[in-house]
This record gives sequence, structure tokens and C-alpha cells, in this order.
Amino acid sequence: MTPTQIATALLLGLGLTACVDDPDGTATLDVPVDPATGLRLADLPPVPPLPEWPDNPPTEAKKELGRALFSDVRLSGSGQTVCGNCHLPTSAFQSGGPLDAPDRSFPAITPTLHRHTPSMLNLVYAPMARWDGSHFTDLPDMMVLPFAEPNMNLSMLDVSAGEALDVPAAQVNLQRRLTVEIPGYVPLFEAAFGEDITTLSPEQVWRLAGQAMAVYIRIAVSRDAAFDAWNAGDDDAISDAAKRGALLFTGKARCTLCHSGPLTSDFEFHNVSTSVPDASGARPDEGRFLVTGRDEDRGKFLTPMLRSAARTSPYLHDGSEASIARVIAHFSGPDGRADPLNELAMIPALTDDEIDDLVQFIKSLDGAPIPLEDLAPPTTLP
Ligand code: HEC
Ligand code: HEC
Repeated sequence: MTPTQIATALLLGLGLTACVDDPDGTATLDVPVDPATGLRLADLPPVPPLPEWPDNPPTEAKKELGRALFSDVRLSGSGQTVCGNCHLPTSAFQSGGPLDAPDRSFPAITPTLHRHTPSMLNLVYAPMARWDGSHFTDLPDMMVLPFAEPNMNLSMLDVSAGEALDVPAAQVNLQRRLTVEIPGYVPLFEAAFGEDITTLSPEQVWRLAGQAMAVYIRIAVSRDAAFDAWNAGDDDAISDAAKRGALLFTGKARCTLCHSGPLTSDFEFHNVSTSVPDASGARPDEGRFLVTGRDEDRGKFLTPMLRSAARTSPYLHDGSEASIARVIAHFSGPDGRADPLNELAMIPALTDDEIDDLVQFIKSLDGAPIPLEDLAPPTTLP
């Protein structure tokens, strides 16, 4: 939602679905399924089927190639790091730490990244990614871009230059590694795409590598949560606390102003006082402003998806909160109003019990386990 839409929703009083007249709270949990939608809470529909990709049809050969590219230290600048150092398949593809060193083998010479590694579950559906939306084009490009970033490209890391990217140089490096240094990749690309990467341009090889990694991450999906069963009518699928939390989330607590839809995100950028200006007006991380240069975007970050949030501590763009309860306390308390540009005015103060209920609801959004046998690093590399 844009701020204008939020203001409109506020004026219209939308989101006030929970009935608060019932003193013992039992009748309020008996939300009927709406025959039109088949759901109790239409703001939070189930995750849709995987999208079709006519220009990159998913195949086993592409997925296996993508899995190798994701897991092969030899493709990094230092020869020591992989995507999975920070995006651990066993940890919802995030790292579990607040901030990560680009190269854990050389933490002394590489600065820590200034942002927390996000989970990649449900990334296949995301129309926007990264905390500030920088460089976003499409999933294949997002998957291959880190080969040009300090994350993976130690040899090109110039600390004084921040995170300036030299994508063309990284494309040449990646093609050299995939053809000359590790020629075992050539037949894998042939099998996946019917192309000889020794004869393609570096840009073309880069794109194919991204497409293979997109097919790999495509199956890392968080869906079919206990909440979805309750929302579709199964009374016993979640606890009463989680039901109360769901009603708060879509009602009084107004979380669905931003965390709505099947993926619990509007994929917009909002200021929720997580990077508050100092006396001079400068924020530790200017967020979306870094991409747009617009003053109103200072301190705004992308609304994260919450479907796997129970498994992705720590939270926020800087990994500064260890628990979901603390994030919600931030949203509903004075800290949430600390930034003059904050968009949280409509969130009411919440009691500890209400915060607990919201946490139980977010836990009930946790999906069925991902197929780790297809996503863990392969036993052999080319
Ligand atoms: C040193 C840790 C590290 C390594 C290694 C790393 N990443 Fe990341 N990744 C991050 C961080 C931190 C972010 C958040 C950047 C931001 O939003 O500003 C991120 C963001 C992403 C995103 C956007 C996800 C989202 O939900 O916004 C994708 C996709 C991604 N990385 C893929 C990869 C791939 C593929 C590799 C390997 C080629 C890789 N990363 C290597 C730390 C890492
Ligand atoms: C105005 C939009 C907005 C509203 C309303 C909102 N959020 Fe958020 N939420 C965000 C943004 C933006 C972030 C990321 C901020 C950052 O990383 O600095 C976030 C982060 C979170 C996170 C951390 C997730 C992660 O992976 O780091 C949780 C949990 C969360 N919100 C839950 C809630 C709950 C519960 C409510 C209702 C009480 C709520 N939010 C209301 C926009 C919103």
C-alpha cells in the first residue's frame, strides 16, 4: 500500500474486522468462511501455484546446474565463498546472524555487510526484492548479480568505493571460470539449455547462469501452512491464540495495511522507524532513498514476507531484533514513532498478551518443509 492508500484505508476504517464486544473472546474466534472466497480472512489467501515460465521452462537439468552454481566455492572471487554461506538452505536461505562478512574466510579484510541476509523462501513470487529494491529486474538477474558484488567477488572488492558494481567484468570472470577453470560446467549448460557456453558472449552465459539458479530457488516455497487450513475452514488447525492473532493482524493491529495478500507483503517500501535520523538528520541506512533519491523515501524498507518468519530470526534490514515479539513491540510502541517520516501512526498500542497472540499467528504461517534433498549442496560438483 502507498501512504495515500493507507490514509484512505484509515479513513474508511478498513481492517476493523475483529469483533471486540465478546468479553471471553470465544465467539469472536468463530469466524465464518465466506462462500464467495472460501476463506475466513480474505486479506490472507493461500499461496498460489508456481508461475509458468514459458521463456525458461523449469527442468531437472537446470535445477541441478543451479544448485551447483549456488554451492561452488570456485566461482567466487576468493575461491572460498558461496551463496549458501549467507543463504543457508537449512535455515530458510538466510544466515541466522545479524550481519555477515562477505567472505568468512577473510573476515579481517572484508567489511561486514551493512544489511541482514533475507530469507529466499517464496522469492519466486516476489515482484520486488532487496531491502531497498536496488538493482531489481527479475529473478534470474537477482540470482546471478551477487557474482558481481562484494558478497562473492572478493577480488574486485574496493572498500573505499562502497559497493559499486562492475557487472561486465564479473560476466567475463564468470564465463572464464565456467569454461576454462572448471570446464566440467560446459556439458552441464549444454544439457540444461542446449547451448555451448564457450561460444556465447559473457552476457549470455551470465543470463543462463541466472536462469539455472532461478529454477533452483523456485522450489524453495513456504506454503500450505496450518493457518491456511484454518482460513479455509478447518477449525482445529491452529490454536486459539493463533486465531486471536490472525484477527488482530487483519483487524485492530492493522498489520495487513502492509503485510497482506498470499505472501503477506504489499512489496512496497515503508518507513517504520527502523533507521532513525540522528541530530544532523542522517540515518544509519537511508534505505529506499539510496535508489530513488527522493527525500520521502528516506528510511523506507521493503515490507518483508512473513510466511517463514518464525524460522528467520534475527529480523529487520539490519538484523537488529532477535524475536518477532520485539519487532511487534517496536511497531506498537514509542520507538515505532521515533522517525519523523514513520508510517505507523495507525497502529494501536498492543498489550503483551496481544503481542503473544500475533506471534502465535505468525508461527501458524510457517509452511510445509521445503524439499531439502533438492536444495542442499550437491554431493559432487563438476
Ligand atoms: C556474504 C553474505 C552473502 C552472500 C555470500 C550472498 N548473499 Fe545474497 N544477500 C545478502 C544480503 C546481506 C542481502 C540483502 C541485500 C540488500 O537487500 O541490500 C542479500 C540479498 C539477496 C537476494 C535478494 C533477496 C530478497 O529477498 O530481497 C538474492 C536473490 C540473493 N541475495 C541471492 C544470492 C545468490 C544467488 C548468491 C550467490 C551467487 C548470494 N546471494 C550470495 C548476503 C549474501
Ligand atoms: C506501514 C507498513 C507496515 C505495517 C502497518 C506493519 N509492518 Fe511489519 N514491516 C514493515 C516493514 C517495512 C518492515 C521491514 C523494516 C526493516 O527491515 O527495517 C517490517 C518488518 C516486520 C517484521 C520482521 C520480518 C523480517 O523478516 O525481518 C515482522 C515480524 C513484522 N513486520 C510484523 C508486523 C506486524 C505483526 C504488524 C502489525 C502489528 C506489522 N508488521 C505492521 C511494514 C509494516
